[in-house]
Amino acid sequence: MSKVIFHTDARPVDFIRAALPVAGEPLLDARRRPLHDLRISVTDRCNFRCTYCMPREIFGSNYQFMPHSDLLSFEEIVRVARVATGLGVKKIRLTGGEPLLRKNIETLIAMLVRLSTPDGQPLEVTLTTNGTLLAKKAQALKDAGLNRVTVSLDALDDRMFERMSDSRISVSTVLRGIDEAARVGLAPVKVNMVVRKGLNDGQILPMASRFRHSGHILRFIEFMDVGSTNGWNLQEVLSGTEILDRIGAAFPLEPVQAGYRGEVASRWRYADNAGEIGIITSVSQPFCGDCSRARLSPEGKLFLCLFASRGHDLRTLIRAGGSDADLAGLFAGIWSQRNDHYSEIRGRETAKQQKIEMSYIGG
Ligand code: GTP
Ligand code: 5AD
Ligand code: SF4
Ligand code: SF4
Repeated sequence: MSKVIFHTDARPVDFIRAALPVAGEPLLDARRRPLHDLRISVTDRCNFRCTYCMPREIFGSNYQFMPHSDLLSFEEIVRVARVATGLGVKKIRLTGGEPLLRKNIETLIAMLVRLSTPDGQPLEVTLTTNGTLLAKKAQALKDAGLNRVTVSLDALDDRMFERMSDSRISVSTVLRGIDEAARVGLAPVKVNMVVRKGLNDGQILPMASRFRHSGHILRFIEFMDVGSTNGWNLQEVLSGTEILDRIGAAFPLEPVQAGYRGEVASRWRYADNAGEIGIITSVSQPFCGDCSRARLSPEGKLFLCLFASRGHDLRTLIRAGGSDADLAGLFAGIWSQRNDHYSEIRGRETAKQQKIEMSYIGG
């Protein structure tokens, strides 16, 4: 299959600059949602082929990944991040594909952590990884200034893990990565488990047991209809409520208050103080109302929703010598017109839309 081409939104910069917020006022989108998080995808490549994300039939040896020359350089990424912090971003998450495949990623991290918000607070910089290279890289990531990591792990049983990730990497490699990350202080480590009903849902309780008392926060994610290649169907979604019921029957749970407005996961703690878990219910209980996340693609397009069909080109302006003020104006203009709320309107109509792939834009 050939790569999906996304169109650019070229609009006159002067017009867009008018969208810049008045100093001290938050930049709001068309649904009055502020900009808080920037998620930066640094590569569209991955060494896994999770069936729900990069099915091998599509992402096989003939698949054309992005050439390196198309990717934003570290300097270009930092420029976008700096402008974004000026517009309200407080948190940056590096993602992919698999972000640890991007060469010298620790150099980028060291550059990002030097940025600060307009009120002088340091940015929070985190990273989502599949964990295969984490044991080796954790110390370098910590030394570069990374705050935390989130690691994807969908099963503890090796055979089920192999089926989910379509790889030969063993569960113990990922577990070693998680332990090493916690050991060097990239904590609390969050562990993301995507649940596919009828496939890996038998792993919910083993995973819950394994991470009780570990200090890591296990989060269960409803299988989502991201992209256009993963063959999603509603029958394979085990709802967050059902997941909670299963865990709660074995280990009683109590709700925990959200840490901040727009937090993706609903939080729960074990009544016996064995730790905390999270449930991410994009399908059964959408959380678009508070969605404050912008996403930057590897080649510099700004996406306003995980389920968007197209992004807004920032790279052309950057490479044409646009100033930071021009870039801020463009970014603000795009955000202020944002009206996305896909998960709230998911249905027969949205099913027909072509959507970006999660391996390209990140989780
Ligand atoms: P922290 O609070 O920093 O730990 O980050 P987070 O809660 O945003 O978690 P993380 O970035 O690990 O996101 C967890 C998962 O939630 C992602 O891998 C996605 O599967 C899903 N997710 C994150 N953001 C969105 C979103 O905006 N929309 C939808 N539908 N799903 C999302
Ligand atoms: N549904 C839910 N979560 C997904 N992720 C990737 N594809 C899907 C999907 N279809 C999650 C991964 C990982 C993060 C990058 O996104 O499990 O934790
Ligand atoms: Fe790779 Fe993560 Fe997608 Fe799995 S979910 S294929 S690890 S990018
Ligand atoms: Fe945000 Fe889109 Fe996810 Fe809704 S579906 S929470 S708008 S990324």
